[in-house]
Amino acid sequence: MNPSPHKTLLITGGAGFIGSHVVRKMVLDHPDYLIINLDQLTYAGNLENLKDVEDRPNYTFLRGNITNESFLEDLFSRYSFDGVIHLAAETHVDRSITDPKEFIRTNIVGTVNLLNCCRTAWQDPADHLFYHISTDEVYGSLGEEGSFTEETPYDPRSPYSASKASSDHLVRAYFHTYGLPVVISNCSNNYGPNQFPEKLIPLSIHNILHMQPIPIYGKGENVRDWLYVEDHAAAIDLVFHRGVRGRTYNIGGMNEWKNVDLIRLLCGIMDRELDRDPGTSAGLITFVKDRAGHDLRYAINATRIRGELGWKPAHTFEQGLQKTVAWYLTNQDWMERVTSGAYKSYYEQQYGNR
Ligand code: NAD
Ligand code: TYD
Repeated sequence: MNPSPHKTLLITGGAGFIGSHVVRKMVLDHPDYLIINLDQLTYAGNLENLKDVEDRPNYTFLRGNITNESFLEDLFSRYSFDGVIHLAAETHVDRSITDPKEFIRTNIVGTVNLLNCCRTAWQDPADHLFYHISTDEVYGSLGEEGSFTEETPYDPRSPYSASKASSDHLVRAYFHTYGLPVVISNCSNNYGPNQFPEKLIPLSIHNILHMQPIPIYGKGENVRDWLYVEDHAAAIDLVFHRGVRGRTYNIGGMNEWKNVDLIRLLCGIMDRELDRDPGTSAGLITFVKDRAGHDLRYAINATRIRGELGWKPAHTFEQGLQKTVAWYLTNQDWMERVTSGAYKSYYEQQYGNR
């Protein structure tokens, strides 16, 4: 353990998709910080995502569940955290439609457990920060025009977005009621390396590789705003260090795509990368039954974070997609291991069969 870290940060959900990029950035860019990564390692969390930083002296991994209050209390008695960046969550909308309860437990109860620990531990709020990572889906669904600002009223429409909206409200309630120092950011759809192949882009890459049908819900006319995950991690670093307490920051790519157009673009890239005849991958597109309550369109107005903190995405969509495809093609064994559950053996090798 680093003997005198400048700050001790708890990052929850650090073995997941976005969390792993945030942990890597914090560990490498802030060598004077001690980074504690707390993750339950559900199906979506995988320590292979952090292989390259796991031996760094300023990094420690702990397996644990944020729904376990006594575990968290013990953790907060062992470490004096200066800040928490909270990413741990159940995140897949389709799973939330099949089984909402796990979303309530982790996303709402787990967040309250963390808020309570911070409230008890932080006698002097000025030196601390609870940073809650949230989604643009809390704002509901847009029509053809307009975009979400930080003032857009909440209107969540899936069990996932309702659980995230609930946790956002609780974070704000702890700010107003108890003076807990908090900040929230609401980001649009992320894509990039380490994303579990159940979300649209990595699932499609997986299926194209295996010449399996690419399922597109409904007519494929739903629109999402896509941001490369490293650009989100950079925004998180900025908001953590310079964000105003009690404030919300919208983060987005200004990069809207209809699902079917995005998948056609991806198919073209995959055909070239795999040396297939043009049109081969697009032939796999299969329109399937629509998602229940499928939100039509999300779009972010990121004026505040651009103007106040000077953030903007560093990657164009073409660059980000190219990097993402290249990563999945060189990490096909990762994709096979996470989809088969075999990555668990990596954890057992590193940490024993706990
Ligand atoms: P993910 O599903 O890839 O990872 C979630 C991580 O949380 C996993 O490592 C998992 O093991 C861990 N976890 C789940 N339940 C836990 C529990 N009870 N205790 C401890 N750890 C637990 O998620 P992601 O896509 O990286 O999203 C991270 C955060 O960012 C979430 O809060 C999500 O709502 C938010 N977000 C995601 C996106 C996106 O496009 N993926 C966009 C905006 C905001
Ligand atoms: P997803 O990646 O699940 O993210 P979210 O629902 O949080 O935006 O889905 C992105 C879009 O792609 C969404 O409109 C649903 C659609 N979609 C499909 O058409 N087919 C699929 O197999 C999946 C997973 C998603």
